[in-house]
Amino acid sequence: MVSQTGQRLAQDHAQLDALMKQLQQALKTGDLEAGYTTLDLFWARLAVHIRAEHLHLFPRVLSRLSKRVNQTVGPSPSQAQSIVDELRADHDFFMHKLAGAIDTLRDMTNSDDVAERLKTIRETVIEVEKRLMVHNEIEERQVYGWSTALFDEQEQIELLTLINKELAHYPSRFAFDTWATGTESKGEEPIVR
Ligand SMILES: [Fe+2]
Ligand SMILES: [Fe+2]
Repeated sequence: MVSQTGQRLAQDHAQLDALMKQLQQALKTGDLEAGYTTLDLFWARLAVHIRAEHLHLFPRVLSRLSKRVNQTVGPSPSQAQSIVDELRADHDFFMHKLAGAIDTLRDMTNSDDVAERLKTIRETVIEVEKRLMVHNEIEERQVYGWSTALFDEQEQIELLTLINKELAHYPSRFAFDTWATGTESKGEEPIVR
């Protein structure tokens, strides 16, 4: 069974996936402005999601696994560590690739090889999409599920609260409506940095 934290993060995966589709549509039609805006938003939303995993989920899961005496459920600490290491490497890959694509798109308006550069950006985005799909599946099937077995109800509520807070922190250059595009409003006021 997946914990509430797992459900919340999986819901964020679905929202990022919807945004990825919008991004690909904008790039496909050659709309540079929409492409740039959507890519910038996707990158920022993914960064916030990753930050929540890095700051709260991964350290808690790894720390708890390393302290367990009689292991009955879930991976060994070393198995979990290597899975999380892979996930972190994926995160670095996503941020690096997307940042490069943003830089290219930002400088593109006066370029005479727009079609060629756009093609490269589309290929990069597809590369990110493919790896992200596998990545998200590993998280949803494994790491998100472990938290159910590892934490009691109170700890799970605390973790969910931390994750929700982290996901509500977004860069001030985005208006709330823009940030929430494609998301279900829970009526929570976001915290703007
Ligand atoms: Fe992740
Ligand atoms: Fe994730």
